[in-house]
Amino acid sequence: MDQATVQRFLDGMKYEAGRTAPPPGFPQLPDIPAGRYTDPDFLALERAHVWKRSWLYAGHMDEFPKTGSYLFTRKTGSPIVVVRDKDDTVRAFYNTCRHRGGPLVKDASGCVPGFVCGYHGWTYALDGTLVNLRDKRDFVGLDPAQRSLVPVRCERFYNWIFINEDPQAQPLAEHFAPFTQYFEQFQPATWRFVMQEGFDVKCNVKVLMDAFLEVYHLKSIHTNTVDRFLDHRGTTIALYRNGHSLMVTPNRRPDWSDPGTRGMRRVETASEISAKNNPSFNFFPNLVTPVDPTGAPFLLFWPTSDTTMRIECHWFAPDWGGGPRSPQWDVRIENFDRILAEDLQFAESIQQSLQSPGFKGIPLNYQERRIYHWHEELDRRIGAERIPAALRVQPCLERYWEN
Ligand code: FES
Ligand SMILES: [Fe+2]
Repeated sequence: MDQATVQRFLDGMKYEAGRTAPPPGFPQLPDIPAGRYTDPDFLALERAHVWKRSWLYAGHMDEFPKTGSYLFTRKTGSPIVVVRDKDDTVRAFYNTCRHRGGPLVKDASGCVPGFVCGYHGWTYALDGTLVNLRDKRDFVGLDPAQRSLVPVRCERFYNWIFINEDPQAQPLAEHFAPFTQYFEQFQPATWRFVMQEGFDVKCNVKVLMDAFLEVYHLKSIHTNTVDRFLDHRGTTIALYRNGHSLMVTPNRRPDWSDPGTRGMRRVETASEISAKNNPSFNFFPNLVTPVDPTGAPFLLFWPTSDTTMRIECHWFAPDWGGGPRSPQWDVRIENFDRILAEDLQFAESIQQSLQSPGFKGIPLNYQERRIYHWHEELDRRIGAERIPAALRVQPCLERYWEN
């Protein structure tokens, strides 16, 4: 991260803490229509154009220790297997046999020399090629070369693997380009997978995700935790194309450090922004990560229906030199889970509100503008012409995008 960018954020935090109103000219954001959280037709559009066509997190290289290591996911809505091939390439395929759709793998993870369909035994190499089929003599004119597994786009951001069901999607490196300069300082190629956990929540996925795009709620629901060490009034925000955004919130005291991270290995090249403040990234659509020089959780928000979701926390840290993780991690994760429970406490009530006539729409303020930015990208992805006029958001924030 270059010094000019660091300085811009440091100046930004001072400016935000001192202002008495939004910057001159900042628009009144129109209310987000309530139906964007509840209308089944709108949510079907969202599913088709965002969840089925975005770069979504699939795993870390540490979860693929050997040739043939695989993870099986249904998170995009389709059954997909992600597998490490011989040359250390990671590939993804629909978990769908080219004969009659039998499953290739059934477990959530494992290691295989190749894929053997459970139904009639067609066999595929790790690169998806059909290498053997039983009773070939009985298939008239079938060309095995035309029956390879159907690939899913699968690319890496450092050692983090993402998949995308859209064959035409922008390459991952281009898509995440705005964040590359920020991540370099953490030496992310040296980061290791620590652990993961997940929680099912009874609300639309956006209800909970919105809570992680702003710090306006700190004083109410994190009174005895986050609000003690972060000053939400100094939060400075950068909006990027493709729906991504970054929020940096200053620590209340410059010498403060998270007790959960004490004694942990730190990346020494982290800038002042990360070492002494709290940056939190949103990789559109569903990855939020507050990155610290000692490690970070990837928070992932997955819809499981129109009214339910699952949040997952995948933890990573700079290489600690092998062996089991330090017991300090238990303290750190326990602290984090306490904060997460605070964030989860209203989700179900808010969902009930969304489904009541009392919920008319969402007026967002200046410091909540990342949520509006997210919704603007949602409409760009769907195509405004496909959305009923009453459910569209009016584009307002493009002039604030970073270059
Ligand atoms: S469905 Fe896979 S071999 Fe028949
Ligand atoms: Fe929160």
